[in-house]
Amino acid sequence: ISHLPPSSNQEEIRTKPDPTRLIGRGRYGTVYCGSLDERPVAVKVFTAANRQNFLNESSIYRVPLLEHENIARFVAGDERTGPEGRTEYLLVMDYYPHGSLSHYLSAHTNDWVGSCRLAHSVTRGLAYLHTELFKGDVYKPAVSHRDLNSRNILVKTDGTCVIIDFGLSMKLTGNRPARHGEEENAAISEVGTIRYMAPEVLEGAVNLRDCESALKQVDMYALGLVYWETFMRCTDLFPGESVPEYQMAFQAEAGNHPTFEDMQVLVSREKQRPKFPEAWKENSLAVRSLKETMEDCWDQDAEARLTAQCAEERLAELLLIWDRSKSVSPTLNPMSTTLHNERYELAVKPGSIYIDVQQSSLFNFVFSETA
Ligand SMILES: Nc1ncnc2c1ncn2[C@@H]1O[C@H](COP(=O)(O)OP(=O)(O)O)[C@@H](O)[C@H]1O
Ligand SMILES: [Mg+2]
Repeated sequence: ISHLPPSSNQEEIRTKPDPTRLIGRGRYGTVYCGSLDERPVAVKVFTAANRQNFLNESSIYRVPLLEHENIARFVAGDERTGPEGRTEYLLVMDYYPHGSLSHYLSAHTNDWVGSCRLAHSVTRGLAYLHTELFKGDVYKPAVSHRDLNSRNILVKTDGTCVIIDFGLSMKLTGNRPARHGEEENAAISEVGTIRYMAPEVLEGAVNLRDCESALKQVDMYALGLVYWETFMRCTDLFPGESVPEYQMAFQAEAGNHPTFEDMQVLVSREKQRPKFPEAWKENSLAVRSLKETMEDCWDQDAEARLTAQCAEERLAELLLIWDRSKSVSPTLNPMSTTLHNERYELAVKPGSIYIDVQQSSLFNFVFSETA
């Protein structure tokens, strides 16, 4: 990207980041609460040193048809001269008062349905991001996120999520670069947040011959870790005991600031993954299916991982297979959720769900019984 995306000066004049209301700080930007026509907005401020990151993120938000319930809503991008005469870049988006999923999970626990809603909605956003679409003359390339983690996901007031932070994202289809030089290959494969890096990223072994699938698989690995963080705060999965405090994936194994080398040893060499707690040894269909879904996302073999579309279906099914006979079971009424998926309506017709706990291929089974 060689030039600044078209800016809307009108937005610039009306948008005022309030420097006293810092709401988040990441590696590339500082996020403030601001207002636009009295409406609260979030303003991500990039310094000139992070210009490339700003350009990339705004170019992703401007991808045609990117608007989606589970992707943060972009308002405007702009350039301005900051307080000390330095150039700054502003990215304006909707403000989500619950903040990041990580922050939300550290303050809240959720029941099974609530946890499924969080996980399902993130997956739905990612599946949409990963999809190449043609709508009449309009073309949406497939996009990989490349820095998916629980800080780059925000929670909406209805208990569903949106994905944010496209600073490292890449369009995967459309104007595919023909051949990359070695330097560029490293740039393509070695990005993200260390804790959430897939084994092939840690090994510098991302399969760039099929860049599109490979980069989607890297996102899926990180999604598996996000599921673990989410369900570790699920009250229904810890019956009769208190839910553990929120933990980031690998926090127990690698602490708060793991190095690249730490993660290489843990994830690539020792093939470790976040541990399932004692309480999840219980052999119920829901717990087994959930663990299987996580394992199928963070598989060592990138090509064996679920696609986001497939994970989305699994999460929709998980929401329905909670054992109703359990006293701790939430009132399972998926119709009352805002998950818009026709299969829910099919699946919740009385008498339409029959689950054989002995079935090994749980998901195929549930799917074929309800479809
Ligand atoms: N629209 C928003 N509403 C509320 N909080 C936000 C919003 N955007 C970002 N944040 C907070 O700011 C943090 C940093 O934002 P992010 O876009 O991830 O920046 P970076 O690229 O520096 O990581 C997020 O983890 C989140 O806590
Ligand atoms: Mg971030």
